[in-house]
Amino acid sequence: MKQRCPPKAVPSPFVEEALQHLQAPKDGMALDIPCGYGRHTRLLTERGHHVTAADIDARCVRATLDSVDITQRGRIQGVILDATRNLPFKPNSIAVAVVVDYVHRGLLARLAEYVCPGGHLVFQTFGARGENWRELPKTTALAHELSPVWRKIRYNESPVRPESERRVTVKAVLQRTADVAGLQQNVYAPP
Ligand SMILES: C[S@@+](CC[C@H](N)C(=O)[O-])C[C@H]1O[C@@H](n2cnc3c(N)ncnc32)[C@H](O)[C@@H]1O
Repeated sequence: MKQRCPPKAVPSPFVEEALQHLQAPKDGMALDIPCGYGRHTRLLTERGHHVTAADIDARCVRATLDSVDITQRGRIQGVILDATRNLPFKPNSIAVAVVVDYVHRGLLARLAEYVCPGGHLVFQTFGARGENWRELPKTTALAHELSPVWRKIRYNESPVRPESERRVTVKAVLQRTADVAGLQQNVYAPP
């Protein structure tokens, strides 16, 4: 299901804090996927990164590019893509990826192919509101999917209601290991 995006101006405090602690190298590409209206693309460009802002919705990509300060526009590119499919990036070409308020099974495992060994992934699910808990992962399912190519620097699950469904919100800071065998095992297989 396509997860729509209300315009949000302010970046997630969790992502802000994670990026401060990571001190990711500025020469590699940062990926904001999906970028929505660009709140994390702006954060990444303000922190000195070259950023690829990717979304399935061309209007979101356009709004993101337009929202970046004119002095920073040389360091940002927009890509329209479907995050459920193969991604148009070179292997090991991404230094840091940010995935916020978007949950699709297998995306984090697939991103390991594009994030360089030692590079990072900052991930945060949306909070549970109304019926959207149905799109959240079940407890431990994501942790299982991430192993062994992602090392967990931080990984927190919080249960949401109804408890019987065992769904959780997740906040994670992950580092790509150099485990090539694990990478091959973890290639996404549809359920
Ligand atoms: C809730 S917004 C989150 C945007 C951004 N990460 C943020 O935190 O502000 C979800 C975004 O996912 C995009 N999206 C939905 N399905 C997608 C897909 N299959 N591939 C890429 N982007 C998708 C939507 O267009 C929307 O911009």
